[in-house]
Amino acid sequence: MTTPLLAAGDLRSDFDLSVEELRALMDLAADVKRSPSAYRSALKGRIASLLFEKPSLRTRITFEVGAKQLGGDAILHVGPIGGREPVADVARNLDRWTDLIIARTFAQQTVDDLAQYSRVPVINALSDMFHPCQALADMQTIQEHLGGWQGFHMAFVGDGNNMAHSMMLASARLGLSFTCITPPTYEPNGDILARAQQFAAATGATIRATTDLEDGLRNADAVYTDVWASMGQEHEAAARARLFSPYQVNSELMALASPGALFMHCLPAHRDEEVTEDVIESKTSVVFDQAENRLHAQKALMLMLVDGPAR
Ligand code: CP
Ligand code: NVA
Repeated sequence: MTTPLLAAGDLRSDFDLSVEELRALMDLAADVKRSPSAYRSALKGRIASLLFEKPSLRTRITFEVGAKQLGGDAILHVGPIGGREPVADVARNLDRWTDLIIARTFAQQTVDDLAQYSRVPVINALSDMFHPCQALADMQTIQEHLGGWQGFHMAFVGDGNNMAHSMMLASARLGLSFTCITPPTYEPNGDILARAQQFAAATGATIRATTDLEDGLRNADAVYTDVWASMGQEHEAAARARLFSPYQVNSELMALASPGALFMHCLPAHRDEEVTEDVIESKTSVVFDQAENRLHAQKALMLMLVDGPAR
């Protein structure tokens, strides 16, 4: 398959992908999954810098494995980005030695600064505002299980967080209707919601936010949840647990969605907090397919950002 390069040159957030690019990336991710050996040398000799200010299992391992399976490699740095020196200088060192920068940060500004100052592509591997790589894998998973996006409805239950923002933007672009159901004051960012609604006008999806579970879960083909306290919010965990408990995804809540609705979670999951054991272990739970697809979707993403093998 041909791999057109992304016009933005980076994936700072979901906003960097046009509808056409997102569709092309989904097609490529499916092909990479079907025929991995066809891409064995596609990024031969290319090296990625992996920078993590926060913990990770899936993102770190799938980028490392993915880079190696494409014929390249990855170097890991764990710890603050910037601090010893400005982020702009970090970017202008790494781009002299490596071909791609993949960064998990607290501030979105850190990703934006890396992208601004680096001459090589930058990928957001999760920031406080977005988790675009997870959304790519999740859209691939939805296509595999539901057969497409258009005309289906996802309910996202819990915190209006980075995951909610990325899922809302990817859904809007692909025509998947999306309802974000949160406790009052934990709604998603209003500007991101408004932008998603603008994108949805072109694809026919309905994107909305509500605090009402029954209303939001009606006709949901997939129910998605995430941790109540994200990385960096651990000190709020106890207070959030009290407020979020009515929004726990359990079998009573799943009964408000369409029969046979998929259960989705980006992982790591906290059993008996945001989701009960019986729901995450149920037949309609696709959480490990989501985790597997991190590998395929990110390989497709790297192929669409890095211009072939080293010369
Ligand atoms: N879902 C996800 O990003 O997992 P990690 O935090 O383990 O990378
Ligand atoms: N919202 C979670 C996602 C973890 C993959 C966090 O930011 O911690």
